[in-house]
Amino acid sequence: MAYSWRSFAVLLFTLHVEACRPAPQPSTSCDSVDRGYQCRPEISHFWGQYSPYFTVQSEIDASIPSGCEVTFVQMLSRHGARDPTASKTKTYNSTVAAIKKSTTSYGPGYEFIKDYEYTLGADQLTTFGQQELFNAGVKFFHRYEKFARSTLPYFRASGEDRVVESAQNWTQGFHQARLAAGNSDQDPFPYNILTISEDEGFNNTMSHSLCTNFEEGPNDEIKHNAQAIWKSVWLPPITARLNKNLPGANITADQTVSIMDLCPFNTVANAAGNISEWCSLFTEDDWHGYDYYESLDKYYGYSYGNPLGPTQGVGYTNELIARLTNSSVDDHTSTNSTLDGSADTFPLGLPLYADFSHDNDMTAIFSAMGLYNATAPLSNDTIETTAETHGYSASWTVPFAARMYVEKMTCGSDEELVRVLVNDRVIPLQNCGADALGRCTLDAYISSLTFAQSDGFWDQCFT
Ligand SMILES: *[C@@H]1O[C@H](CO)[C@@H](O)[C@H](O)[C@H]1NC(C)=O
Ligand SMILES: *[C@@H]1O[C@H](CO)[C@@H](O)[C@H](O)[C@H]1NC(C)=O
Ligand SMILES: *[C@@H]1O[C@H](CO)[C@@H](O)[C@H](O)[C@H]1NC(C)=O
Ligand SMILES: *[C@@H]1O[C@H](CO)[C@@H](O)[C@H](O)[C@H]1NC(C)=O
Ligand SMILES: *[C@@H]1O[C@H](CO)[C@@H](O)[C@H](O)[C@H]1NC(C)=O
Ligand SMILES: *[C@@H]1O[C@H](CO)[C@@H](O)[C@H](O)[C@H]1NC(C)=O
Ligand SMILES: *[C@@H]1O[C@H](CO)[C@@H](O)[C@H](O)[C@H]1NC(C)=O
Ligand SMILES: *[C@@H]1O[C@H](CO)[C@@H](O)[C@H](O)[C@H]1NC(C)=O
Ligand SMILES: *[C@@H]1O[C@H](CO)[C@@H](O)[C@H](O)[C@H]1NC(C)=O
Repeated sequence: MAYSWRSFAVLLFTLHVEACRPAPQPSTSCDSVDRGYQCRPEISHFWGQYSPYFTVQSEIDASIPSGCEVTFVQMLSRHGARDPTASKTKTYNSTVAAIKKSTTSYGPGYEFIKDYEYTLGADQLTTFGQQELFNAGVKFFHRYEKFARSTLPYFRASGEDRVVESAQNWTQGFHQARLAAGNSDQDPFPYNILTISEDEGFNNTMSHSLCTNFEEGPNDEIKHNAQAIWKSVWLPPITARLNKNLPGANITADQTVSIMDLCPFNTVANAAGNISEWCSLFTEDDWHGYDYYESLDKYYGYSYGNPLGPTQGVGYTNELIARLTNSSVDDHTSTNSTLDGSADTFPLGLPLYADFSHDNDMTAIFSAMGLYNATAPLSNDTIETTAETHGYSASWTVPFAARMYVEKMTCGSDEELVRVLVNDRVIPLQNCGADALGRCTLDAYISSLTFAQSDGFWDQCFT
């Protein structure tokens, strides 16, 4: 199926009208358990990794196939919506201050800036972001209710506050859904969450840091170069429009990106996810370019566009293999052999696992798993194909509260099949003879993960 960007946006808009009817579940007006964020989808689904989670249209029916029984689920979730990082929040604050100081008049639609006060914090989950994770726990419970009534996932979270808190909020939603389903409260709450430090010197498969040539090498340059070319194509007319409407402000290209960032960040700073006024300064096309700009950051920073990107996801993929096959971890990259060698901190043979991490790490993990490997490399100067034919964009893969489900299922025989969903979209498996539903047999899937099994290019980290 080949939609254009625009017809896809129209499709989403149609769905949005339906989704904005009052929902019966605990949710904010723009966000719901089942479909995620659905206000102004024609723009809000194009905010790159700053889009709030929304259910992504799946070419393959994403429901559990009839006649099949899910036997195992590994979830990997991004933390919920947060404030800007500390350095970005300073930049945004000073950008707003500079505009207010030097602008001599405000064009139509720009008047609100005069009274706008910058109040965003730094790094922490927002109230809206907490609710996203609560909702994610509810949603997971209902999809996998058969297991989830009687067994708890084994939980791990990477050590940064917003990730750990996201895991906690997820368990709150999961627990409440469990109680609401009439489950007796047999498991003491709060549940245990294994926290793995992100501090220097720690091996953490959910937070990259060990691979010297990746951390200190030319990687930032690779992604910045690709983004710089795209900026030179996409931004000039937008910057010119801002300068026309904010005479005297002398806004630069980088400031234009900051001003666009203010839209998603002010939106998720609102507990209801109400669309920020900043969003209205930009057109749908502007946002398509923005989504592409952020997709370049992920693709050339942590995925196939970066020589050492996918390697950062190898440790996690080898842990996934261990869990899928009920056998000990075989990895020589970022796993911690003490943790992974103990049944207390890396139990095998369980049906449910839930891990919590970051967008960049998840991007590397998806790539080490071979997901999206069939898509053409992202061009640095044009959005040459649609999101569908690429199958890849930052907003579809790692929005706030993104979640991957790796499922094993049996369908009438003992043979186990594997399937992967990213934000409710089935991502057909590569190189293992996937069937029409995107699934491979467990054996074929494991055999296809040669990149991870051979430690990726880890040897190139230290040469
Ligand atoms: C923004 O910058 C001003 C001036 O430096 C400072 O007083 C204010 O606290 C900052 N606001 C935020 C929310 O960071
Ligand atoms: C999220 O967790 C925090 C702290 O654990 C709690 O204060 C907050 O109420 C939770 N929010 C939701 C929506 O569960
Ligand atoms: C591995 O995990 C153990 C147990 O938590 C911890 O004591 C140790 O510092 C960790 N080592 C590395 C290199 O991460
Ligand atoms: C941009 O893409 C072109 C075509 O693939 C490539 O030759 C060029 O090196 C790229 N430039 C940068 C700076 O990434
Ligand atoms: C705008 O900024 C540019 C570069 O920062 C500078 O060269 C130029 O003089 C400025 N123009 C005005 C009108 O302030
Ligand atoms: C969000 O917008 C609705 C409708 O305009 C309004 O009633 C509500 O108070 C707003 N919520 C917040 C938290 O600002
Ligand atoms: C941590 O990772 C390094 C690099 O691969 C490895 O040499 C070391 O043995 C690992 N430490 C543990 C405790 O697994
Ligand atoms: C996993 O392996 C262990 C020991 O090797 C075995 O006791 C257990 O039944 C297995 N679990 C599953 C779910 O296959
Ligand atoms: C991606 O596909 C290429 C070509 O089929 C293959 O060489 C490579 O190993 C794959 N990468 C991963 C991580 O699966």
